[in-house]
Amino acid sequence: MLKHAVALAATVAFASQAFAQVSETQAKLAAQELRLLVTEGTGVINDLQPEINAGTLQKEFAQIDALLGKLQARYSKVAGAPIDTKEAGLVGDIRRAYIQAYKDTLTKKQAAMSKGGQDALVPAHFRALVLKDFNKAMAGRINAYATNRDSELINSDWSVKNVMRHSPLLSEAKALVDTGSQEPTLKRFDKNYMGYWPMKLQAACVACHAQNGLKQQVGQFGGALIADVPMQ
Ligand code: HEC
Repeated sequence: MLKHAVALAATVAFASQAFAQVSETQAKLAAQELRLLVTEGTGVINDLQPEINAGTLQKEFAQIDALLGKLQARYSKVAGAPIDTKEAGLVGDIRRAYIQAYKDTLTKKQAAMSKGGQDALVPAHFRALVLKDFNKAMAGRINAYATNRDSELINSDWSVKNVMRHSPLLSEAKALVDTGSQEPTLKRFDKNYMGYWPMKLQAACVACHAQNGLKQQVGQFGGALIADVPMQ
């Protein structure tokens, strides 16, 4: 029995060394970087909603390079410098994985975007596709989720319970989303670091969601972006 316990302890120690430890500061920086990329990347698609929905987006604006240029411009405006994809470490890996997922998703959705029509490519759907690829590429070193409370979901796939079913932060995140907390929260819970950023509904969000059967109000809680960074 004792022999087994010693062997098990050795295995556990080895397994945890296989992953680099992430300090609270590093976890916070990683979460914030992810939030910036996701916000600005989704913002590019959000800006194009009138043209996409009307089916009037010009071909040159649907080119991957043009869209990446828009992401760079938006990111630079907030960060004061373009996205440095050469950086080492977790933040660099997040940038590389995000840009790759962004490009791949744009490539898949380019035709739908160019053709256009009501809800042909809504920001939330685009973001969900990017995050799926992104999370896969990061292999558990960071996970990002966009979600909303159950009573205001258009697509039930994006419920907190569903998107965060594998996350140790599920109950903390669900409590914030359920109450529609408008406070950004960056906090460590045991071995995981959580970034929680609420979204505020603008007139265009409310108008389009109303067509999908939701009754919402401008300025109210419109869902949240959540980052989960395991620290060891
Ligand atoms: C052109 C229409 C349109 C606009 C504009 C729009 N949405 Fe949505 N939104 C949708 C649709 C359609 C879905 C469901 C997407 C899916 O099925 O993946 C959705 C889904 C979402 C979700 C995921 C949870 C859910 O309900 O499925 C969030 C969060 C969200 N929208 C927030 C916003 C916010 C905040 C804005 C404005 C900044 C916005 N949306 C603008 C149409 C829109």
